[in-house]
Amino acid sequence: PSALPGPAPHEVQAHRGASAIAPENTMAAFRAAAEAGAKWVELDVALSADGQLIVIHDDSVDRTSAGSGSLGELTQSEIAALDAGSWFGQDFQDERIPTLAETIAALGELGLSANVEIKQHKHHKSLDQLVGAVQTDIAKRSGSTEIMISSFDPEALRAMHALEPELEMAMLWGRPPEDWAGQLAAIPATTIHMHYKALSIGMLEETDKRGIKVRAWTCNDPVQLVSFWDAGLTGVITDDPKLFLG
Ligand code: G3P
Ligand code: MG
Repeated sequence: PSALPGPAPHEVQAHRGASAIAPENTMAAFRAAAEAGAKWVELDVALSADGQLIVIHDDSVDRTSAGSGSLGELTQSEIAALDAGSWFGQDFQDERIPTLAETIAALGELGLSANVEIKQHKHHKSLDQLVGAVQTDIAKRSGSTEIMISSFDPEALRAMHALEPELEMAMLWGRPPEDWAGQLAAIPATTIHMHYKALSIGMLEETDKRGIKVRAWTCNDPVQLVSFWDAGLTGVITDDPKLFLG
């Protein structure tokens, strides 16, 4: 249907994998993203009770698995034993909640790159432990897998940037604050990921002028973004990458 302006194909990121097609943040969702032609997936990471990085959005397993309990009280092996697909559909009953390490390995085989969103949860005790674990796991990526980091927590981005200054850092905002430029510079981050309903042509002209990238989340309706591509919108994070890949 592509007479509409849209993103470059490598600027379509599948949100939690192709989470409209398969259960979010599972291998099935990452495979579905690759099958849809996406080059990037967005995924969320947080620590288990035993300090492993788990690919999951919430701070508990309740919503996205057949089990229950908070991440801060469950070990990685307890989490890995849960059915993480039946809640979405019976075809997915064999899906599991993956670690970041095993996901990074799988992405290499799928030819995918990853936007690793660092979640900050109450049970996380040490920022150094959190970003150190991310650094360790992403170090094992294959040559074809690019990594970028995003977070709603500027401290997590600052700490991650200090460890990995070459990686793209994206500050996540619903609606960016007035002094977004100052806050980005303090991290420093080169990119804003913002809610698509907060986009404005005026701000995109300003970010474009400063060489700041902007991606919009989580948009599942290409029509909503049509007027923003020419103004400098960089990319989109979507549950259904096919919508933006024609
Ligand atoms: O990266 C964009 C989006 O994932 C941020 O919100 O809650 O889906 O992680 P959330
Ligand atoms: Mg996310």
